[in-house]
Parts: sequence; C-alpha cells; structure tokens
Amino acid sequence: MRIIVCDNYDLLSKKAAQIIGSQMILEPKSVLGLATGSTPIGMYRNLIKMYEEGLIDFSKITTFNLDEYYQLPIDNDQSYHYFMDENLFNHVNINRENIHIPNGMSDDIEAECTLYEEMIDNNGGIDIQVLGIGNNAHIGFNEPTINFNKGTHIVTLEESTREANARFFNSIDEVPTKAITMGTGSIFKSKKILLLASGKNKAEAIYNTVHGKVTPEVPSSILQFHKDVIIILDKEAASLLNEDDYELMSEFTKTK
Ligand code: PGA
Repeated sequence: MRIIVCDNYDLLSKKAAQIIGSQMILEPKSVLGLATGSTPIGMYRNLIKMYEEGLIDFSKITTFNLDEYYQLPIDNDQSYHYFMDENLFNHVNINRENIHIPNGMSDDIEAECTLYEEMIDNNGGIDIQVLGIGNNAHIGFNEPTINFNKGTHIVTLEESTREANARFFNSIDEVPTKAITMGTGSIFKSKKILLLASGKNKAEAIYNTVHGKVTPEVPSSILQFHKDVIIILDKEAASLLNEDDYELMSEFTKTK
C-alpha cells in the first residue's frame, strides 16, 4: 500500500484527479471504476477542469460505478445515476454507451448482478478503481459481514450507513434499505485501486484498513492483500496513523 497524506481536502482532490488523469493519458481507452459520496466530488471537479483545459479526453473511456440504491428511480436526485451526471458525466465528452451503473430498478436483480460482472469482464476488467470508505469501513456498499462478498450483489444497508447518508435526503425514512453493489471480490480484481478519505470520522476506518486484521468485519482490510493500492488522505483521516506509514504532500508553492 502506498499512503499519501495531503495538507487538506483540496490537495487530496487534485492528487486524485492527477492520478486518474494520468491513467487516461497513458491509456485513452481505460476502464475506470467510479465512486459516489461526498469524498470524490472534489476529484470530479478537478477532472472536469482538466477536460476543459484540453488535458484529458473521455471519448474512449469506459466507466463502471460501484453501486446504486435498490428501487430508487434514476431521475431521483439522490440516485447515483443522477449524482454521476451532475458531478461528472454531463460536463465531459464521455460516450453515454460506455457508462455503466448498476440498475437498481431491474425486475430481475440476480440477472442484473450477473450481467454487471460479465460486462466488467468483457471490457477487460477495471484499470483503476476509485473508492471512498464508510465510517464502518465499507467499500462500495459492502457492509461489515462474516464473509467477503465476491461479485455484484444486493445488500441490506446497515443502519449506520443509512444514518450517514440521511444527510442527503429529507429524512432517514427516505433512505433506501437496500442497494446493488460490486462485491469486495469485484473490487479486488481491479488492476489498481485508489482509496480516498477525508475527515476525522474516517480515521478509525483508515487505521483498521492499514493496520487491522484482514476480516470481512472490516471490508476495506482486504486491500492489504492487493498489490497496487494508493490511499490518499487528508490529515484528519490520517490522524491515527504513524508518520512512518505515509508520505506527506504539501503544495510545493507553500513549502518552497
Ligand atoms: P462519503 O461516503 O464519501 O460521503 O463519506 C463514502 C462511503 O460511504 O463509501
């Protein structure tokens, strides 16, 4: 694991966008695994800026999103389809046919999950997967459980996850109780993984990801076994790590 700690969220977002942008420049037909939530929003803003400046091109990029709520219409402003349009896709030249997000409205969820895995495989797998992390160390919507989940599947959300996400809805009653998510196995198959975390409330989950026992009760701990993981944190999310664990990045202009 390579761990980079940034002075603040803005720098974290720039670094993350530079890594995704570099991947896109080196391999214009990259398959990107994308995440929702508040953490990657700054990264998406920077990617849009890089696109507007002519530095990156989405025309041949393929994307797979980690998850989507179950039975939340895609035009609902809390759906992850809506989130991705608002925060990235509507602002760049991506080919709509190359966008993949699990269909939580499918009548046949089992078939939808199988198809999603097949589509990832048929596209050659994910080159770089962006992850946020839950306060309970979930990745995607893989909640703490007794077995690592393999492929895309339907999951019942933990109350703590629904409470954390209630801030985006009018009330907790509106937060769906289920979601479709790529499994920890699907995530683990990605060639490279970029995990982002910001804020003190993520510090314990990050400590357990890096130093804890590898267990499905801490879903992110599986990343200890992956050969190519970059974790980018702000100082608050890194606050329980030792300085020996990470590289510290400050704005060069500020340190020179
Ligand atoms: P957040 O969510 O980025 O909004 O904190 C992360 C997650 O729950 O995976």
